[in-house]
Amino acid sequence: MNSERERILREMGLGPVWKLRLPQTTVPCEQVATAPGPTVAPDPPAAGASAVAAPAWDELARTVATCRQCGLCEARNQAVLGVGDRNADWLFVGEGPGAEEDARGEPFVGQAGKLLDSMLAAIGLRRGENVYIANAVKCRPPENRTPTPEETATCRPHLERQIELIRPRLIVALGRPAAQTLLQTEVKIGAARGRLHRYHDIPVVVTYHPAYLLRNLPDKARAWEDLCFMRRTMRLGDKG
Ligand code: URA
Repeated sequence: MNSERERILREMGLGPVWKLRLPQTTVPCEQVATAPGPTVAPDPPAAGASAVAAPAWDELARTVATCRQCGLCEARNQAVLGVGDRNADWLFVGEGPGAEEDARGEPFVGQAGKLLDSMLAAIGLRRGENVYIANAVKCRPPENRTPTPEETATCRPHLERQIELIRPRLIVALGRPAAQTLLQTEVKIGAARGRLHRYHDIPVVVTYHPAYLLRNLPDKARAWEDLCFMRRTMRLGDKG
């Protein structure tokens, strides 16, 4: 294993864990940490597509910033729309902003965000480069509690609009609230991971939330398998 990859896996707390547990039949996901490898070329955006989309993004940002559709607006410092490449192939969806995200206006900037960045690096990705990061709810649930189904349902149109504008080639649901919001069904992460789901015609992969992984070291090995699955799906599409 080369040293850069070792470093990333060590950062994720994965190195020895996933190496020992990886079943023989699991695709080793060998080159991913250092070489992104060929991906299926995305459709080129139509000429001026970003420019055309800019007013739509401005409108969405205004709508989200001033949204008062549910009680979460009462305690927020600011709504957190999302961050990254608005033409990204990869969309990662978390649960909702925490205290640091609420203060800074950017998703995943705390400890869970650091782990998410390491997870991205492990498959050759970087925040903001062909990657967009958003949340199921745009306002911080008080005391960092899980958003209620009513809150995620109320906020869902904002996420739907984001997906419509980004048109990602793959959506990664980080944790149960994100998965349930996207798939509109009860989800158990253990059962949903490792399979391809769909949001309309877009493939969805479900994995553990980074904050959960920080508390549950053994599941990082499974998260590594999920990362390999994502990477393979992006390379090969539905045949992955
Ligand atoms: N957890 C999330 O789900 N989203 C964030 O933005 C931060 C932590």
